[in-house]
Amino acid sequence: MQPVLDYLKQNQKRFLAEFCDYLRFASVSAQTQHKPDLLACAQWLVAHCQKIGLDARLCPTDGHPIVVAKTKREKNSCQPHFMVYGHYDVQPPEPLDLWLTPPFEPRVAGRNIFARGSTDNKGQNFAHLKAVEAYLKTGTPLPCDLTFVIEGEEEVGSKSLAGFLKQHRRELACDAVVISDTGMPAPGRPALTCGLRGIIAFEITLRGPARDLHSGIFGGAVDNPAMALAQLLARVRDETGRVKIPGFYDGVAPLSKHERAQNKNYPLKDAQLKKMLGVPQLFGERGFTPTEQRSARPTFEINGLTSGYQGEGSKTIVPAWARAKITCRLVPDQQPAHVRQVVCAWLKKNCPPTVRLEITAGHGAEAYHVSPESQPAQAALRALEKAFGCKPLLMREGGSIPIVNEFKKILGADSLLLGIGLPDDNAHSPNEKFSLDCFENGQRMSAYLWPELAAE
Ligand code: BES
Ligand code: MN
Repeated sequence: MQPVLDYLKQNQKRFLAEFCDYLRFASVSAQTQHKPDLLACAQWLVAHCQKIGLDARLCPTDGHPIVVAKTKREKNSCQPHFMVYGHYDVQPPEPLDLWLTPPFEPRVAGRNIFARGSTDNKGQNFAHLKAVEAYLKTGTPLPCDLTFVIEGEEEVGSKSLAGFLKQHRRELACDAVVISDTGMPAPGRPALTCGLRGIIAFEITLRGPARDLHSGIFGGAVDNPAMALAQLLARVRDETGRVKIPGFYDGVAPLSKHERAQNKNYPLKDAQLKKMLGVPQLFGERGFTPTEQRSARPTFEINGLTSGYQGEGSKTIVPAWARAKITCRLVPDQQPAHVRQVVCAWLKKNCPPTVRLEITAGHGAEAYHVSPESQPAQAALRALEKAFGCKPLLMREGGSIPIVNEFKKILGADSLLLGIGLPDDNAHSPNEKFSLDCFENGQRMSAYLWPELAAE
């Protein structure tokens, strides 16, 4: 192990330069214009994996390519096999004017690197690649076989990957999936994430007049779709955010006493959270702490709201339509299909007859829960402690990684969620960053992980 750790220590400068190359690809999966950038990024990854000694290939899909990279196998290897999952696609960088430097021109400032995708997820998966490089380049035998699966559609719902898993079920069968695409609560405080929220996404459009109308000539005699949408959406929740749609909370599992007690020790305190997020006051359902509200409770969120004139100055119209992009976060044991059904039924029932309602369904996924008692989870906890020199925390997180459910269903494998992102990394926000300390500790975590996992 020492040669591996020494190699990591000695090569940080080069790793950083390579990481910058990875970050320069504008691999924005949601935007068609970036399709060539996703391909170029995937090709760069394949070449990089080959350079560090992995057998790597690019697998085209109907969407963006999947990169598969494997350690060279001994004939009839009976070593355990682990998958490392990550994604090279990133969220749209907009609004661009809020970035201090351009999102795809990485900038190092102190111990942070700023770029879209730095924490979510390029930096986190690159840390694992650097750890395996250290094993391969120092000739240190790996006690297990590894397969990296790095996809390009995570931020848009992983449409191609489930089919790919089914197609390559034999090749990808593994003892566990290791994922660093979550967070840790504070610098130096590692965590094993035992739960993720699920999600349903959809868009609703209210259509009124056949075209935008003069609001002086016609306003008052026709409904205003933007007002109607505001009124409809306002009725979805009470003033604490509790959703009023009947059936929305069906199946929600209560938090255990033990978990609630643990949540009290969560290092990020409410006052810090408030300051970090720039809100005048925190918000949320009564009877739950902010930590619980953002990880163990379901929500209904507007992600985008569009209608009428958005340009300079004023324009007196009744807009022809109004649209909202919505996602609900789900928790165990809510059923995505059921939540979608009760939400759609409620919207239809409550939409006034003065506008027409259209609903377009988007992606959906169940929440995820994995036991921290399992042997692989215990092995992961030991590796975290060795790498960070500090007892790891067990926590649930509020984000979603839909494909973890498919890893379980299709491959029968649990996912170990070993995140190295920080709460102030600005994932999905302007000025996303990644801490270089997390990058280094992540590499060491990955290095320690394989012997611990293989020993089980
Ligand atoms: N890395 C996140 C998920 C995440 C973040 C989990 C923080 C736990 C803590 C991932 O890249 C992501 O953003 N997923 C999307 C999924 C969606 C597009 C289906 C999400 O959660 O919004
Ligand atoms: Mn993300």
